[in-house]
Amino acid sequence: MMPLARAPHHVRFVDVTAQMVDLELEITAAISGVIKRGDFILGAEVDAFEREFAAYCEVAHAVGLDSGYSALELALRALGVGPGDEVITQANTFIATVSAIIAVGARPVLADCDAQGASDPAAFAQAITARTRALIPVHLFGRVGDMPAILELARDTGLLVIEDACQAHGARLGGRRAGSWGDASAFSFYPGKNLGALGDAGALVTNRDDVVDTVRALRHYGQRVKYIHDVTPAFNRRLDTIHAAALRVKLRRLDTWNANRASIADMYRDGLALYPLELPAREELGRHVYHLFVVQSDQRDQLRAHLTESRIETGIHYPIPLHLQPALRDLGYAGGDFPNAERLASRSLSLPMFPEMSAQDVDAVISAIHEFSG
Ligand SMILES: Cc1ncc(COP(=O)(O)O)c(C=O)c1O
Repeated sequence: MMPLARAPHHVRFVDVTAQMVDLELEITAAISGVIKRGDFILGAEVDAFEREFAAYCEVAHAVGLDSGYSALELALRALGVGPGDEVITQANTFIATVSAIIAVGARPVLADCDAQGASDPAAFAQAITARTRALIPVHLFGRVGDMPAILELARDTGLLVIEDACQAHGARLGGRRAGSWGDASAFSFYPGKNLGALGDAGALVTNRDDVVDTVRALRHYGQRVKYIHDVTPAFNRRLDTIHAAALRVKLRRLDTWNANRASIADMYRDGLALYPLELPAREELGRHVYHLFVVQSDQRDQLRAHLTESRIETGIHYPIPLHLQPALRDLGYAGGDFPNAERLASRSLSLPMFPEMSAQDVDAVISAIHEFSG
């Protein structure tokens, strides 16, 4: 009888249930506290999480919101960005960055990224016009961009800075946390993020008292005092108390999880050094929190197909840069406008990455790439 071939080891791209194995009891207890108190809307856990997340980011204030998108949109509104203004961001980001600019009535102006996908201060500088009001650098994949250069550019030109830190919880550059540089910064707690809620959630962080005051009103139908509505337009964009309860439990583990991600990145770098792939460089500790581990290959699609056959899940972030998205055709960009963003879209592949990945998982990915490179 023929021996049965063993199915290859299945490696998930991200497994959001893995961290719940250890945390389920603690999170369930925190949620049952909310259920007993019944403070589902802007309850005690929201206040506590806002204090703890602000302290973690080393900023004065955090405001709990329903998503990272809302953090971007309300940051722009609170800073007075609107019709007639231009806001510069990079061509390769998740569409939420640009959707928020459009939602406030401003015009998104795209700039190319550098070869690794980071916001490029020189490209931002070139895109500035007399109508530019703000810059939105994106800490794409979890790596803090060149914030000293971006802040210098903003200071020299009198522009606002909003960090899109939706992928970079806990990253640091030169001792400063992602989110602590801008006039305001946006975080997403989408479940697969480095700090993920049990559904959609987000936060805005800022050192500016005027911004925090306006955003607290904007998220809550314009109320600073119950039933007195003094901000318009205003919205319901509050963070649910149940999410805050879970996020508080998880925030205490974030640094450990980010350290695990960095070790997995090191294992990948050691194991993949000899193959024809471009890998994220090893650099200042903590600058990159590896929300995603993105490699670049000339044979990306064939490599991805081989990994899929080997039961290894992968992703592409992002397959179509924003200037080529059908929904953004009206911005008037064309193929060839942003060569680095286009090159990344055709060559980048995100390998499995989550803090609980085992050495066996990482070895399975490396072996499958070894087989492919034969
Ligand atoms: C770079 C970036 N910006 C904004 C967002 C929007 O966050 P959310 O999905 O929580 O609205 C995300 C995440 O999805 C993101 O990755």
